[in-house]
Amino acid sequence: MQINTAIKNLQKKGYLDLPIDKNLNLVEEINRLRKEKNVVILAHYYQVPEIQDIADFVGDSLVLAQAAAKTKADMILFAGVHFMAETAKILNPDKKVLLPDLLAGCSLAESAPRDKFETFKKQHPGHIVVSYVNTSADIKALTDIVCTSSNAEKIIASIPKDQPIIFAPDKNLGAYLNKKTGHNMLLWDGACEVHEEFSVEKIMTLKKEYPEAKIIAHPESRESVLNIADYIGSTSGLLNYVKTNNAPAFIIATEAGILHKMKQEAPDKILIPAPPMTDDTSCACAECPYMKRNTLEKIYLALQYELPEVTVEESLRQKALIPIQRMLELS
Ligand code: 13P
Ligand code: SF4
Repeated sequence: MQINTAIKNLQKKGYLDLPIDKNLNLVEEINRLRKEKNVVILAHYYQVPEIQDIADFVGDSLVLAQAAAKTKADMILFAGVHFMAETAKILNPDKKVLLPDLLAGCSLAESAPRDKFETFKKQHPGHIVVSYVNTSADIKALTDIVCTSSNAEKIIASIPKDQPIIFAPDKNLGAYLNKKTGHNMLLWDGACEVHEEFSVEKIMTLKKEYPEAKIIAHPESRESVLNIADYIGSTSGLLNYVKTNNAPAFIIATEAGILHKMKQEAPDKILIPAPPMTDDTSCACAECPYMKRNTLEKIYLALQYELPEVTVEESLRQKALIPIQRMLELS
C-alpha cells in the first residue's frame, strides 16, 4: 500500500513524500540503512551542511565521478543533481543509483536538448565535441571527451590547436578555456543560472569593505566576474586556494554550499559569499535551487524504499560511457 502511494508521489513530485515519524533520529536511521544495504553516499559541495556531514565522500564533480567509478558498495545514493547520478549509473550499470529528488536538475544540462545539439553538431563537420559533465546522457552519447571544471583546461590543452572543437554547454567556461588554452572552440550557448547571477558591483563594494580579501570565482561565472578574480577554479580548486593562500579573507563567487567545507577546513579565514544581482535570497548569496532540493528526509526515504532510481537505457549508456572513460583516463 505504502509503496503504491510512494510511486504516485514520485510521478507527481519527483520525490517520495511519505510521512516520517517525528521521533525518528534521521541520521541514525540513514546510518542503519546505508550499513544494512551497503550504500555509498556521495555528496557535492553544494549540498546543505547536514547532508555533507553524513556523506562517505564530499567533493566536486570529478572526485565524485571517480568515487562512483571505484566504489565496491552495492548501491549509490547521489546527493547532487541528476546529471551526476546519471554519470554514476553509466559507470555502474549493475548497481542501483538513487537520487533523492528526480527534479534536482541543472540549468546547464537543460540548455542542451538532444535534437538541437545533434543538428548543431551536423552543421559543423570535422569538429570534435568536448562536453562539460553537466549534460544529459543523450549529449554525452554525442560527445568525444567529457570534462569537468577541474580537468577541462588539461583536456582542452591536450588537443592539437588545429583540431576544430565544439564545446558544450557552458559558454562562460568555454570562453575562459579559449583564453587559457589559445584554442578557438565553437561554444554552445548555455549557462548556469546560479553563476550567471553574480554582481560585479556588489563584489567590488565588498572588496572596499575587505580590501585584504581575495576574490575567487568558479569558471561558470560571467567574464566580467572572472576579470576581477584573483583566482579561478573548480569547487575543489577554490577550497584548496582558501586553505593554502595566506590572505585572511575571501569573497567567493560560487554556490554558497562550498562555504561549509571551507569553514571546516580553514576555520581562521573570513569567508564572504559573493552576492547575486537579484537579492531575493535570505543569505545574500548564490544557492542552486536544484542542489538544494535534497534533504535528509528525502535521503532517508530514498534509502528505505530504494527510490527514486536513476536509470539509463543500455545502448545509450554504452555510447555515453566512452567519453566519460576518456575523461577518467586523462584525469
Ligand atoms: P564542480 O566541477 O566544481 O564540481 O562544478 C559543478 C557544478 O555544478 C558547478 O556549478
Ligand atoms: Fe547546474 Fe549551476 Fe546548479 Fe551547478 S550550480 S548544478 S551548473 S544550475
